[in-house]
Amino acid sequence: MLKIPELSNPSVCMRDPQRVQDILQSMVKAGSNTVQVISDFDMTLTRFAHNGKRCPTCHNILDDSKLISSDCRQKLKELLNTYYPIEIDSSRSVEEKLPLMVEWWTKAHEILVEQKIRKDLLAGVVRESDAMLREGYQLLFDHLHEHSIPLLIFSAGIGDILEEVIRQAGVFHPNVKVFSNYMDFDESGVLKAFKGELIHIYNKREGALLNTGHFQELRTRPNVLLLGDSLGDLTMADGVQDMENILKIGFLNDKVEDRKQSYLDSYDIVLIKDETLEVPNAILLYLT
Ligand code: C5P
Ligand code: MG
Repeated sequence: MLKIPELSNPSVCMRDPQRVQDILQSMVKAGSNTVQVISDFDMTLTRFAHNGKRCPTCHNILDDSKLISSDCRQKLKELLNTYYPIEIDSSRSVEEKLPLMVEWWTKAHEILVEQKIRKDLLAGVVRESDAMLREGYQLLFDHLHEHSIPLLIFSAGIGDILEEVIRQAGVFHPNVKVFSNYMDFDESGVLKAFKGELIHIYNKREGALLNTGHFQELRTRPNVLLLGDSLGDLTMADGVQDMENILKIGFLNDKVEDRKQSYLDSYDIVLIKDETLEVPNAILLYLT
């Protein structure tokens, strides 16, 4: 691992460092014009915590905003307190969690739609929020743009919100494409529904397969760098055609001891309580 010193950072854990080395070498050989990056958004590109305080997800940006009534905020907090512990519970199977996650997203979206949220107020709410991209985000986005490497942000959050976060950070470059849950507004700009099929944390595979056109366009890029923070993020690349190599990097933010083994079993590189993009950036610099 001498070529990438950041892989010796204390936050880095790998089940099989040799395998990581082999994948990276194959990718370097294939060239950066064969690489694409597929990343989750919440708690992967954004920070999990800052100065000991939790940072918001796309949904939480709305939950905490003045666009919703206090009664609705209370209900959304109750949902979060009920379902987030289930999301990160390593003692329950995906089969058990999946319907509960659908329930969470569905209930939250129903509540949000009742609030008559105005599209023109979203930018202000994002600006006033505590959302933070991880340290090193500028380098990540700018470097991918400079090298014309496509970045797919694949999120079970809210597309309108996440786009605003990266737009305000000045990194919504033309090489960035987003799959997410988008809001549907009526002609006066008031939220009336969410568009299309719901994306939640356990159906990213189905989401990928609904967007075959995107992956078809990128079929000359069979080498994938995948970034996620949930085990559900592992299927984000399932739409990639003729995949040659995939390197999976997983941020393990919460319930570290309970979940470490399962993350090591499924991600090639696990970053434990690492609030930075230092390791993905070092890998990208190595590949380009
Ligand atoms: O972008 P990503 O796919 O990570 O977005 C999903 C995250 O949003 C989940 O990890 C979940 O904790 C969070 N969420 C939330 N409020 C909801 C639904 C999901 O904060 N109502
Ligand atoms: Mg996430």
